[in-house]
Amino acid sequence: MKNIALVGFMGSGKSTVGQTLSRKIGYLFIDLDGRIEEKTGRPIPEIFKEDGEDTFRRVEAVVLKDALAAKKAVISCGGGVVLREENRDALKQKAIVVYLKTEPDELFARVGATGSMRPLLNVEDPRAEIKRLVKEREPLYQGVADAIVSTTGRSVNSIIEAIIKELKAKGLKM
Ligand code: S3P
Repeated sequence: MKNIALVGFMGSGKSTVGQTLSRKIGYLFIDLDGRIEEKTGRPIPEIFKEDGEDTFRRVEAVVLKDALAAKKAVISCGGGVVLREENRDALKQKAIVVYLKTEPDELFARVGATGSMRPLLNVEDPRAEIKRLVKEREPLYQGVADAIVSTTGRSVNSIIEAIIKELKAKGLKM
């Protein structure tokens, strides 16, 4: 039984959608950022600040592999999980990957002011940074995705319906 992994930019709805989706289809819910904080005993902004992004990415890769060992889990990944090739390979092998795609303006409205929780957006011009990062990461999200679901202007329920439709179309038994 394959896992379902949700990827997408910060603020695309991975955690909220993942939690509700997992309940609906009776899967375990795993929030990768939460697992990283549990494993290290520290909040993510502190890991970035004290140890740097590279250390964070190393822990993220280990925690992803652990999570992918589950049998029936919905895994909400951090927005940067696609940056490492080893993560993209592991995701492709062990999960059906759904890319939650959101327009940059909406992402900014949702997370532009959350820089204290999201170190990468703790910059002078978060709107421009979101645009830049989305452009840079878009091919990586697309490359790893089995299905792409738009979340722009959509309710959680409508996103979940769209995901379930895609998963059924891919032959996933839930
Ligand atoms: C990151 C996204 C964050 C978190 C970290 C880095 C990224 O997760 O993993 O701050 O590189 O996009 P969310 O996408 O859940 O906010």
